[in-house]
Order: sequence, then structure tokens, then C-alpha cells
Amino acid sequence: MTALAHPRVLIPESKIRQRILELANEISYDYRGKEITAICVLKGSYIFFADLIRGLARPLNCEFMGVSSYGTKTVSSGEVKITLDMTEPANGKHIIIVEDIVDTGLTMQYLLNHLKARKPASIKVCTLLLKPESMKCDVQLDYVGFRIANEFVVGYGLDYAGSYRQIPYIGVLDNET
Ligand code: IMP
Repeated sequence: MTALAHPRVLIPESKIRQRILELANEISYDYRGKEITAICVLKGSYIFFADLIRGLARPLNCEFMGVSSYGTKTVSSGEVKITLDMTEPANGKHIIIVEDIVDTGLTMQYLLNHLKARKPASIKVCTLLLKPESMKCDVQLDYVGFRIANEFVVGYGLDYAGSYRQIPYIGVLDNET
């Protein structure tokens, strides 16, 4: 049996928990009087999504979308395919896209344009992580958990080749990427 390697800790669990509470409070304040439709972008954001929505003190609908980019394992190509779609129409809804990480921004740009065409009442983006140095396009990110350097991270839902999603912190694989 192969043991799971332990990535170097970049953001510990306690910091993630604290920042998510802050984000949830900020979102709850901004959406007072409104019902939120939160979209979990699979697969990477499901753990972040589960923690974030439990802090939202507003009426809430949850949707799930699957997105796969046609890049190699660590480089985004910007070509995106929707592999799973919302079950309810987006029209007239106050949508928050909940993403694990924005790297080049190309996936989010595609998703935003795709959903805006469905005429939601409003649409915002909440990402746990952002790599500002990697951004290749101009995408408005309304809520950002942490800005990180341009290195490949895993854990807290994020994977490398399908592994490491269950690591409870955000870590860096120093020798394996
Ligand atoms: P984009 O470059 O912003 O389009 O990001 C595309 C996708 O690549 C993200 O949604 C993640 O799923 C994945 N990704 C980018 N950087 C990382 C990373 O450091 N760790 C794990 N996945 C990543």
C-alpha cells in the first residue's frame, strides 16, 4: 500500500476556517434581502463550498457545475467544456460562482460569459485562492480568500492528478510537480 505524501503547509486549517467565516459574513451582508444561488464548480471547490455555505445567513439555493479545461495537468489551456450543468434556470437569480482557485482566469472568464448569457439578476465570483501573477485576462473577482504565489497547490479539495483532495490544509508539492 502506498502512503500519501504530506505536502508542505502553505495555509493551515485554522487560517482557512477563519477566512471562510469572514467571507461568509461579507457575502451575507452584501446579499441582505436577497436569495442567493451558489454554484459549486466541481470538482475542486466542493469542500470550500460546503464550509462557505454553512456560514451564509441568507436564503440559499445550491447548484453544481462541472467544468473541465483541456490543458495538461498543471497548465490551463483556456479551452473549457461544461461537463455538468445547473438543474434550475439562472434567469433572474442572484448567482455566486464558488471556485477553488483562479490561476490564469481563463476558466472563470469562460464560465462568467456562459452564465451571463442566461440573464441572471446578478452574478459574482467567490474564489478561495488567487494566483495574481498568473492571471491572463481581466475577470472581476468579488470575493477572494487568499492571494498566493505562482506555485501548484493541493489539499482542501484541490488535486494533483486526482490525489490529495482530502488533505485538510492548502499545501505545496515541492518535488512532484
Ligand atoms: P485557470 O488557469 O484559472 O483557468 O484554472 C483552471 C483550473 O486549473 C482551476 O479551476 C483548477 O482546477 C486548476 N488549477 C490551477 N492551479 C491549480 C493549483 O495550483 N492546484 C490545483 N489545481 C489548480
